[in-house]
Amino acid sequence: MAIEYQEKERLFTLHTANSTYQMKVDSYGYLLHLYYGSRVKGSMEYLLTYADRGFSGNPYEVRDDRKYSLDALPQEFPCQGTGDYRSPAFVVRNGNGSYSTKLLYDSCRITEGKYSLPGLPAVYDTEEGETAEGGLRTPASDGIQTLEIVLRDEVNGLKATLLYGVLPGLDIITRAVKVENEGTETVNLLKVQSACLDFLYGDYDLIQFYGRHAMERNFQRTPVAHGAQMIGSRRGTSSHQYSPFVILAEQSATEDQGGCYGLSFVYSGAFKAEVEKDQYNQVRISMGLQDELFDYPLKPGDSFYGPEVALSYSKEGLGKLSRNYHKTFRYHLCRGRYKTAPRPVLINNWEATYFDFTGEQIYNIAKQASELGVEMLVLDDGWFGVRNSDYSGLGDWFVNEKKLGGSLSDLTERIRGLGLKFGIWVEPEMVSEDSDLYREHPEWAFVVPGRKPVRGRSQLVLDFSRREVVDHIYRQISKVLKEASVEYVKWDMNRSIADVYCATAGREDQGAVMYRYILGLYEFLERLHQEHPDLLIEGCSGGGGRFDAGMLYYTPQIWCSDNTDAIDRIRIQYGTSFGFPVSAVGSHVSAVPNHQNGRITPIETRGLVAMAGNFGYELDLNKITEEEKVCVREQIREFRRLWNVIHNGDYYRLTSPFGDSEAAAWMFVAEDGSEALLQAVTLEAHGNPLTTYIRLKGLEPEAFYVDESTGRRYNGAGLMSAGVPLPQLGGEYRPWQLHLKKEE
Ligand code: DGJ
Repeated sequence: MAIEYQEKERLFTLHTANSTYQMKVDSYGYLLHLYYGSRVKGSMEYLLTYADRGFSGNPYEVRDDRKYSLDALPQEFPCQGTGDYRSPAFVVRNGNGSYSTKLLYDSCRITEGKYSLPGLPAVYDTEEGETAEGGLRTPASDGIQTLEIVLRDEVNGLKATLLYGVLPGLDIITRAVKVENEGTETVNLLKVQSACLDFLYGDYDLIQFYGRHAMERNFQRTPVAHGAQMIGSRRGTSSHQYSPFVILAEQSATEDQGGCYGLSFVYSGAFKAEVEKDQYNQVRISMGLQDELFDYPLKPGDSFYGPEVALSYSKEGLGKLSRNYHKTFRYHLCRGRYKTAPRPVLINNWEATYFDFTGEQIYNIAKQASELGVEMLVLDDGWFGVRNSDYSGLGDWFVNEKKLGGSLSDLTERIRGLGLKFGIWVEPEMVSEDSDLYREHPEWAFVVPGRKPVRGRSQLVLDFSRREVVDHIYRQISKVLKEASVEYVKWDMNRSIADVYCATAGREDQGAVMYRYILGLYEFLERLHQEHPDLLIEGCSGGGGRFDAGMLYYTPQIWCSDNTDAIDRIRIQYGTSFGFPVSAVGSHVSAVPNHQNGRITPIETRGLVAMAGNFGYELDLNKITEEEKVCVREQIREFRRLWNVIHNGDYYRLTSPFGDSEAAAWMFVAEDGSEALLQAVTLEAHGNPLTTYIRLKGLEPEAFYVDESTGRRYNGAGLMSAGVPLPQLGGEYRPWQLHLKKEE
């Protein structure tokens, strides 16, 4: 069983294939965290020690036992006001203005399958419509269970249900929390961290992925020192600046060995992750909603859900940790027709034309693309309202027929006539001041009364916490999708949110608006998913500004970055790979010199890097040379041939582009082990160059593998211990690939 409850000791043990998570209700009713790490048996309660520690207070009910202090004990859901002075997971403001909560154990329930969260994304056991025998159900779907632990505060009437989902085959444990007000007064929720882990001792590093627009998810590893380190977003999106995925790693942990813990927030709005080393050298890490600008009034009878955090532990280093997340998100978070199916190779017109196009030009781009084997045309920004620049038009989701030279259906019919599917760009959450929508409904945008709003890309944010706003935009966009039988949508979001104020909410509700905005976003996306079940939606927020597990529930792929330069992309895709599968990454070949950084790379390199994602093109293929066209045709054939091993295979990082390696290298191994693909790009070039050797991973040591292009035969153990020499490729930014088939 994944979940065991020993009633006498009030001990909860959650087992996955390779990890154990344990907690216990103590004699005073507090829920203490005992252990999370490699799989163990029996009670770990013996790890707790008690001492009389100065300035660490004692709850009243322990009477004269000065050795009992919540300031030193590891807890599962630490609250403000219990004498624990570390950063709490849960803070409220009671009806009388006080900030205390004391949540004590009430009851528990274990059920088969995985809980879901109303209105919020969450990892699932089986997707709706999937059957136990269905093709998409993996062996890892077996034995999934849910544990609910109910805690109550008898003074303010709050009931907190801690939700745990255990996915044993994937080494994933999810956490979320439901808070209900069973009291008589409104209680304001001020901080809700959905997951909190207390470690009794240990030297850890925090690994996190910081960045900026067009340079997202850089790898940073720093020791956890005394004090607190916080990363998060106040931007209303998960953000380019910090990823809502972090790792706490033993300082000795590497790619292939050592203990490490992942925390991935299944939420797309503002978040907070904190790690703190306390006075007793204990470490607390927590993740949840950003508490700044959060002040949620929970009225008597109301309930609130703190979004899910997906936890994973690997004792086999960071590589295994990543693969746990890859598989979980691929099979148990992404949904819909395209969750594991091949996605169309697309051509997007953004970098080819920006706003300056006609229907005829789009058709010509599609025509050339179709001749080279591309499968879908995506019409990016500029097809609607009056939108010839980014100063106007957002909110007016009707087709600009003058610009297209006819209706959208006329254009899509012609494009379909070329054998291509058709996709379209939208940015539903935004409004331009120069738009009919804004002229009619200025109060639908976030603006603080009496103040001028902060503009971002010259646009304002629509208040998606309001049902009528979501409904209006949904109706407009859904109509376009239906009329033109659109098969793909790129959902963009091009600014950080500011001026959060809902014109129809009272003073007391303003602190709930950011959270309700995200619920509105999810509701819109869910409606799209339900009413257009075959639609492929690609998430985007100026590239990777909302690249998070929450979005993956609705959009199985996300445009990884507005930076399309192959070399920068290697770094961005490397950082992304720690928490997210390759199947989630949107990646395109664009023109050179690159529009973001001016770098020139060979088309072969751009192709190889883009193939480690959802492959596509973002340039006018009419403008490339005949030789490049031959190359494009071959790339598409190649991608189709390699798609399965790339998208459904196990991913291994072989070198770090942030380190001092002269080449970036990564590889994929098919789930059934039958083939492997190594991809590499040289990052540096030197006179009289040394040979770079690349050690492979994930192969069967006993097996032999054949490189079909040369007929050369390699032993798996040999490839993993001695590696292969990277050929002298004659310069920087050159690609190399080794595709191996396992001998029967
Ligand atoms: C930002 C996106 O990331 C780009 O790919 C493009 O769609 C533009 N927005 C369009 O405005």
